[in-house]
Amino acid sequence: MERREVLKSIGLLSFVSAVGMFSACTEKEQKETHEEKEIKTVKSEENELIVNRQEMKIQDSENPTKLELKHTPEIVVKEEDGNGFTKVDVTIGSQGIIHPSAADHWIDYMKLYLDGELISEIKTEAGKARGFGSFYVKLENVKMIKAEIGCNLHGIWENTLSL
Ligand SMILES: [Fe+2]
Repeated sequence: MERREVLKSIGLLSFVSAVGMFSACTEKEQKETHEEKEIKTVKSEENELIVNRQEMKIQDSENPTKLELKHTPEIVVKEEDGNGFTKVDVTIGSQGIIHPSAADHWIDYMKLYLDGELISEIKTEAGKARGFGSFYVKLENVKMIKAEIGCNLHGIWENTLSL
């Protein structure tokens, strides 16, 4: 084989390899894109059910309605674990009026703040868990616990507990 033909062969091989690598990358990229689309589809279906992100408040704190109580997180400080962490339970809602969890109506998230700092966030699947969170947190020098929750239909509600 002449030198020129050898070089041509090498060039052709390189080209074939490059095409092979390119198509492998393309297949991988296509697969990833397809997976991303599936994830986006699932997320958008969930997002379609989350129709209210308005901040809500109890209108008359002396006489809260059943709907207001059902969406107000109840914060209860419990025992310390001996390592400096205190148990804090958050139930939605208050005074024993528990918010439902159904496929189309549920508490989709809960956030816990200590003195305004976000400490924990919980996402909840519709119909599979109800609005509740239990945390072990450091309360030393903390003056206020705040729980914020989102109901997919009835908006964002919060409650605070001063220590
Ligand atoms: Fe609700």
